[in-house]
Amino acid sequence: TLPIRIAPSILAADFAKLGQEVKDVTEAGADWIHLDVMDGHFVPNISFGPDVIKSLRSYTSATFDCHLMISPADPYLEAFAKAGCDRITVHAEAGVHLHRSLQTVRHLGKKVGVTLNPATPLSVLENVLDDIDLILIMSVNPGFGGQKFIPAMADKIRNARSLIGDRPIELEVDGGVTVDTAPIVTAAGANVLVAGSAIFKGGSAEAYRQTVSDLRTAAER
Ligand code: DX5
Ligand code: ZN
Repeated sequence: TLPIRIAPSILAADFAKLGQEVKDVTEAGADWIHLDVMDGHFVPNISFGPDVIKSLRSYTSATFDCHLMISPADPYLEAFAKAGCDRITVHAEAGVHLHRSLQTVRHLGKKVGVTLNPATPLSVLENVLDDIDLILIMSVNPGFGGQKFIPAMADKIRNARSLIGDRPIELEVDGGVTVDTAPIVTAAGANVLVAGSAIFKGGSAEAYRQTVSDLRTAAER
Protein backbone atom coordinates (compact mmCIF):
# COMPACT_ATOMS: atom_id res chain seq x y z
CA THR A 1 0.00 0.00 0.00
CA LEU A 2 1.10 3.56 -0.76
CA PRO A 3 2.22 5.86 2.07
CA ILE A 4 0.06 8.63 3.51
CA ARG A 5 1.01 11.94 1.90
CA ILE A 6 0.04 15.39 3.10
CA ALA A 7 -0.34 17.91 0.26
CA PRO A 8 -0.88 21.52 1.38
CA SER A 9 -2.83 23.58 -1.18
CA ILE A 10 -1.18 26.97 -1.54
CA LEU A 11 -4.51 28.41 -2.69
CA ALA A 12 -5.00 29.31 0.98
CA ALA A 13 -1.48 30.74 1.39
CA ASP A 14 -0.50 34.42 1.35
CA PHE A 15 -0.01 35.10 -2.38
CA ALA A 16 2.21 38.09 -1.59
CA LYS A 17 4.87 35.74 -0.18
CA LEU A 18 4.26 32.45 -1.95
CA GLY A 19 7.93 31.44 -2.14
CA GLN A 20 8.34 31.70 1.63
CA GLU A 21 5.00 29.91 2.17
CA VAL A 22 6.12 26.99 -0.01
CA LYS A 23 9.43 26.85 1.86
CA ASP A 24 7.73 26.98 5.28
CA VAL A 25 5.21 24.28 4.45
CA THR A 26 7.98 22.05 3.06
CA GLU A 27 9.97 22.45 6.26
CA ALA A 28 6.74 21.73 8.15
CA GLY A 29 6.76 18.22 6.67
CA ALA A 30 4.60 18.50 3.55
CA ASP A 31 5.09 15.61 1.15
CA TRP A 32 3.65 17.29 -1.94
CA ILE A 33 2.81 20.90 -2.77
CA HIS A 34 -0.71 21.04 -4.25
CA LEU A 35 -1.06 23.70 -6.94
CA ASP A 36 -4.63 24.74 -7.78
CA VAL A 37 -4.81 26.30 -11.23
CA MET A 38 -8.14 28.03 -12.01
CA ASP A 39 -9.20 29.78 -15.18
CA GLY A 40 -12.45 31.60 -14.32
CA HIS A 41 -14.19 29.44 -16.93
CA PHE A 42 -14.13 25.81 -15.84
CA VAL A 43 -14.46 27.05 -12.26
CA PRO A 44 -15.76 30.42 -11.02
CA ASN A 45 -12.41 31.69 -9.72
CA ILE A 46 -8.97 32.63 -11.05
CA SER A 47 -5.74 31.65 -9.29
CA PHE A 48 -2.33 31.40 -11.01
CA GLY A 49 -0.65 29.83 -14.01
CA PRO A 50 2.62 28.23 -15.12
CA ASP A 51 4.81 31.34 -14.66
CA VAL A 52 4.00 31.49 -10.95
CA ILE A 53 4.71 27.77 -10.60
CA LYS A 54 8.03 28.20 -12.41
CA SER A 55 9.03 30.94 -9.97
CA LEU A 56 8.16 28.72 -7.00
CA ARG A 57 10.19 25.76 -8.26
CA SER A 58 13.45 26.89 -6.63
CA TYR A 59 11.87 27.19 -3.15
CA THR A 60 11.39 23.46 -2.54
CA SER A 61 12.40 20.06 -3.82
CA ALA A 62 9.00 18.63 -2.80
CA THR A 63 6.80 17.13 -5.50
CA PHE A 64 4.70 19.71 -7.35
CA ASP A 65 1.19 18.23 -7.57
CA CYS A 66 -0.67 20.32 -10.13
CA HIS A 67 -4.49 20.29 -10.16
CA LEU A 68 -5.70 21.86 -13.38
CA MET A 69 -9.17 23.38 -13.16
CA ILE A 70 -9.00 24.76 -16.69
CA SER A 71 -10.85 24.06 -19.92
CA PRO A 72 -9.45 23.36 -22.40
CA ALA A 73 -6.38 21.90 -20.67
CA ASP A 74 -4.53 20.38 -23.62
CA PRO A 75 -3.01 23.61 -25.04
CA TYR A 76 -1.35 24.32 -21.66
CA LEU A 77 -0.08 20.89 -20.57
CA GLU A 78 3.41 21.42 -21.96
CA ALA A 79 3.74 24.80 -20.23
CA PHE A 80 2.86 23.23 -16.86
CA ALA A 81 5.31 20.38 -17.43
CA LYS A 82 8.07 22.85 -18.32
CA ALA A 83 7.22 25.00 -15.29
CA GLY A 84 8.32 22.15 -13.04
CA CYS A 85 5.14 20.24 -12.20
CA ASP A 86 5.96 16.62 -11.34
CA ARG A 87 2.37 15.46 -11.48
CA ILE A 88 -0.44 16.89 -13.59
CA THR A 89 -4.08 16.10 -12.88
CA VAL A 90 -6.85 17.00 -15.32
CA HIS A 91 -10.60 17.08 -14.77
CA ALA A 92 -12.56 14.41 -16.63
CA GLU A 93 -15.25 17.08 -17.21
CA ALA A 94 -12.85 19.61 -18.75
CA GLY A 95 -12.72 18.14 -22.24
CA VAL A 96 -14.20 15.50 -24.50
CA HIS A 97 -10.91 13.68 -25.15
CA LEU A 98 -9.76 12.60 -21.70
CA HIS A 99 -7.58 9.79 -23.01
CA ARG A 100 -5.73 12.20 -25.28
CA SER A 101 -5.03 14.59 -22.39
CA LEU A 102 -3.68 11.71 -20.29
CA GLN A 103 -1.44 10.54 -23.12
CA THR A 104 -0.11 14.06 -23.60
CA VAL A 105 0.90 14.32 -19.95
CA ARG A 106 2.46 10.87 -20.11
CA HIS A 107 4.48 11.81 -23.20
CA LEU A 108 5.71 14.92 -21.40
CA GLY A 109 7.25 12.53 -18.86
CA LYS A 110 5.07 13.54 -15.91
CA LYS A 111 2.88 11.53 -13.56
CA VAL A 112 -0.70 11.75 -14.71
CA GLY A 113 -3.92 12.03 -12.74
CA VAL A 114 -7.65 12.35 -13.33
CA THR A 115 -9.99 14.23 -11.07
CA LEU A 116 -13.76 14.06 -10.78
CA ASN A 117 -16.21 16.68 -9.56
CA PRO A 118 -18.51 15.46 -6.76
CA ALA A 119 -21.38 14.62 -9.16
CA THR A 120 -19.25 12.78 -11.74
CA PRO A 121 -19.49 8.98 -11.51
CA LEU A 122 -16.40 6.80 -11.17
CA SER A 123 -17.43 4.91 -14.31
CA VAL A 124 -15.61 7.49 -16.49
CA LEU A 125 -12.36 6.01 -15.13
CA GLU A 126 -13.02 2.41 -16.10
CA ASN A 127 -11.32 2.60 -19.48
CA VAL A 128 -8.31 4.66 -18.42
CA LEU A 129 -7.26 2.84 -15.25
CA ASP A 130 -4.10 1.49 -16.84
CA ASP A 131 -3.13 4.95 -18.13
CA ILE A 132 -3.07 6.87 -14.84
CA ASP A 133 -0.94 7.26 -11.72
CA LEU A 134 -3.48 9.06 -9.57
CA ILE A 135 -7.21 9.54 -8.99
CA LEU A 136 -8.28 12.76 -7.28
CA ILE A 137 -11.73 12.72 -5.70
CA MET A 138 -13.12 16.24 -5.24
CA SER A 139 -14.91 16.37 -1.91
CA VAL A 140 -16.16 19.93 -2.54
CA ASN A 141 -17.21 21.69 -5.73
CA PRO A 142 -13.94 23.07 -7.12
CA GLY A 143 -13.25 26.79 -7.20
CA PHE A 144 -12.73 27.84 -3.62
CA GLY A 145 -10.95 26.85 -0.46
CA GLY A 146 -12.60 26.68 2.92
CA GLN A 147 -15.70 24.67 1.97
CA LYS A 148 -17.21 21.77 3.90
CA PHE A 149 -16.38 18.14 3.06
CA ILE A 150 -19.37 16.53 1.25
CA PRO A 151 -20.15 13.42 3.37
CA ALA A 152 -21.37 11.33 0.40
CA MET A 153 -17.81 11.42 -0.95
CA ALA A 154 -16.71 8.87 1.67
CA ASP A 155 -18.53 6.12 -0.24
CA LYS A 156 -17.12 7.40 -3.52
CA ILE A 157 -13.58 7.16 -2.10
CA ARG A 158 -14.30 3.60 -0.94
CA ASN A 159 -15.60 2.66 -4.41
CA ALA A 160 -12.59 4.28 -6.08
CA ARG A 161 -10.33 2.26 -3.80
CA SER A 162 -11.94 -0.99 -4.93
CA LEU A 163 -11.91 0.08 -8.58
CA ILE A 164 -8.13 0.62 -8.30
CA GLY A 165 -7.64 -2.94 -7.06
CA ASP A 166 -3.94 -3.74 -6.81
CA ARG A 167 -2.79 -1.10 -9.30
CA PRO A 168 -0.19 1.33 -7.92
CA ILE A 169 -2.55 4.32 -8.25
CA GLU A 170 -2.47 7.13 -5.68
CA LEU A 171 -5.92 8.01 -4.31
CA GLU A 172 -6.10 11.69 -3.42
CA VAL A 173 -8.90 13.68 -1.79
CA ASP A 174 -9.33 17.43 -2.09
CA GLY A 175 -11.71 19.76 -0.28
CA GLY A 176 -12.69 20.22 3.34
CA VAL A 177 -9.92 17.97 4.66
CA THR A 178 -9.26 18.79 8.30
CA VAL A 179 -8.08 16.94 11.39
CA ASP A 180 -11.75 15.87 11.81
CA THR A 181 -12.36 14.58 8.28
CA ALA A 182 -8.88 13.11 7.63
CA PRO A 183 -9.67 9.82 9.43
CA ILE A 184 -12.85 9.38 7.33
CA VAL A 185 -10.89 9.92 4.13
CA THR A 186 -8.10 7.46 4.94
CA ALA A 187 -10.46 4.86 6.43
CA ALA A 188 -12.25 4.91 3.05
CA GLY A 189 -8.94 4.13 1.34
CA ALA A 190 -7.36 7.43 0.26
CA ASN A 191 -3.63 7.96 0.82
CA VAL A 192 -3.08 11.57 -0.35
CA LEU A 193 -4.73 14.38 1.60
CA VAL A 194 -4.94 17.90 0.20
CA ALA A 195 -5.46 20.59 2.82
CA GLY A 196 -5.58 24.31 2.18
CA SER A 197 -7.33 26.38 4.81
CA ALA A 198 -6.76 23.80 7.57
CA ILE A 199 -3.01 24.35 7.23
CA PHE A 200 -2.59 27.96 6.11
CA LYS A 201 -5.07 29.48 8.54
CA GLY A 202 -2.32 28.90 11.14
CA GLY A 203 -0.39 31.79 9.60
CA SER A 204 3.10 30.84 10.81
CA ALA A 205 5.74 28.22 10.09
CA GLU A 206 5.33 26.73 13.58
CA ALA A 207 1.56 26.44 13.13
CA TYR A 208 2.03 24.73 9.75
CA ARG A 209 4.34 22.17 11.32
CA GLN A 210 1.78 21.43 14.05
CA THR A 211 -1.14 21.04 11.63
CA VAL A 212 0.78 18.88 9.15
CA SER A 213 1.74 16.63 12.02
CA ASP A 214 -1.82 16.58 13.44
CA LEU A 215 -3.21 15.73 10.00
CA ARG A 216 -0.74 12.88 9.62
CA THR A 217 -1.64 11.49 13.04
CA ALA A 218 -5.37 11.78 12.25
CA ALA A 219 -4.86 10.14 8.84
CA GLU A 220 -3.00 7.21 10.34
CA ARG A 221 -5.59 6.67 13.03
C1 DX5 B 1 -10.72 23.63 -4.55
C2 DX5 B 1 -9.24 23.27 -4.58
C3 DX5 B 1 -8.73 22.78 -3.29
C4 DX5 B 1 -8.81 23.77 -2.17
C5 DX5 B 1 -8.90 23.02 -0.89
O1 DX5 B 1 -11.11 23.99 -5.84
O2 DX5 B 1 -9.01 22.27 -5.54
O3 DX5 B 1 -7.40 22.28 -3.43
O4 DX5 B 1 -7.74 24.66 -2.13
O5 DX5 B 1 -9.09 23.93 0.12
P1 DX5 B 1 -9.61 23.48 1.54
O6 DX5 B 1 -8.62 22.52 2.10
O7 DX5 B 1 -9.64 24.77 2.29
O8 DX5 B 1 -10.96 22.87 1.36
ZN1 ZN C 1 -7.03 21.13 -5.62
